[in-house]
Amino acid sequence: MTDTQKSATLTLDGESYELPIFSPTAGPDVVDIRKLYAQAGVFTYDPGFTSTASCDSTITYIDGDKGELLHRGYPIDQLAGKSHYLEVCYLLLYGELPTAAQLEDFEVRVTRHTMVHEQMHNFFRGFRRDAHPMATLVGVVGAMSAFYHDSLDVTDPWQREVAAVRLIAKLPTIAAMAYKYSIGQPFVYPRNDLDYAANFLHMCFSVPAEEYHVNPILSRAMDRILTLHADHEQNASTSTVRLASSSGANPFACIAAGIACLWGPAHGGANQACLEMLKEIGTVDRIPEYIERAKDKNDPFRLMGFGHRVYKNTDPRAKVLKQSADEVLELLGVENNPLLQVAKELEQTALNDPYFIEKKLFPNVDFYSGIILEAMGFPTSMFTPIFALSRTVGWISQWKEMIADPQNKIGRPRQLYLGETMRDYTDIEQR
Ligand code: ACO
Repeated sequence: MTDTQKSATLTLDGESYELPIFSPTAGPDVVDIRKLYAQAGVFTYDPGFTSTASCDSTITYIDGDKGELLHRGYPIDQLAGKSHYLEVCYLLLYGELPTAAQLEDFEVRVTRHTMVHEQMHNFFRGFRRDAHPMATLVGVVGAMSAFYHDSLDVTDPWQREVAAVRLIAKLPTIAAMAYKYSIGQPFVYPRNDLDYAANFLHMCFSVPAEEYHVNPILSRAMDRILTLHADHEQNASTSTVRLASSSGANPFACIAAGIACLWGPAHGGANQACLEMLKEIGTVDRIPEYIERAKDKNDPFRLMGFGHRVYKNTDPRAKVLKQSADEVLELLGVENNPLLQVAKELEQTALNDPYFIEKKLFPNVDFYSGIILEAMGFPTSMFTPIFALSRTVGWISQWKEMIADPQNKIGRPRQLYLGETMRDYTDIEQR
């Protein structure tokens, strides 16, 4: 953060207040309003944080107008093409690409933590069989704080490190267990000879009764989905993790809070909602009807997988996944899948429609991830858990950054109060 020597002047009731302006390494300048209330006695008003920087960060940068996403400066398309998920995890956590030795050490550390405490199995069995895997995930990740007492002290850097590795390592195991439980199959233990993505597919799709070989094209596609979802700066769930952690809450509780936020259909739940929408549309001839509904102000229906708070251009992650979707569907011999036909036609129709052009609504990452996951054999209910497991590293990296920041203080927004002013209590007989 550079002090630009520039300032903004706010004039209020004849008084002027100078507000410092800081320059980021990329992106718009920010006006520092931290002392505004103390000096001028006013708050700022910004529901949904559309113009508010809640923190400074060095992890991820998005230029929504250009459709650019950088992790520690590296463009996402280069990372998705040349790197792999665990290397990107290292980059997000520690700030630099690892050397071969550092990567090996990190992979060993993550791999050693893939199993969950055996007693945790009982937790899963306490859920109803038909529980949504996200419900199970929120509960079980929160419950990790009842199992891993030696990594709860957030003031200890070593414990923070152990918690970070535990979460990255165990989330695939927990997500796969939530899935297996929901379909009545036995839990499958992790296999440390497989890479991160392949191991996850193994835990989801293998059964004790027969051999299961992970197709390398599918594990590469899964790795790409994980990589593309790894972090996305101060989105709703990341901000939730930061806010939860600002009170000093333990890392497992904070990540459980992030998972709960991610679940919503305006955020991580959009991939499930998108596929359900494609199924509802069903055939290409019904697309115009749904496009009209999406444009109708009186209809709550929105085109799921379209639009983004920050991207006002193509989501760079969607570009990579579109290509991945073609590869996976061809491999599986389902390139003529009716759902995909609907998706492709819907995308073209929306991209050429003045409403979507004018509002800069482009397909986001969720538009394609669901198609790939469905082709791999995942039920729609697993789409958001997979998003959650990929995003865990982003949450944890942002959490670590925040805790190490000396400016860290409890998050406590103000409000524009529009309720009743003080009035006297009325006894019940008089109401
Ligand atoms: N379909 C139809 N119209 C839309 C859509 C959509 N998917 N998205 C936005 N619009 C319209 C809104 O109605 C609004 O119109 P108006 O200006 O006439 O009122 C305008 O575009 C701006 O929309 P907002 O909701 O104000 O934009 P915001 O930044 O708050 O919302 C969001 C972004 C939540 C992603 C929104 O585009 C949406 O609901 N999309 C569908 C859900 C989705 O795909 N979410 C995934 C996000 S990516 C992720 O989490 C990984």
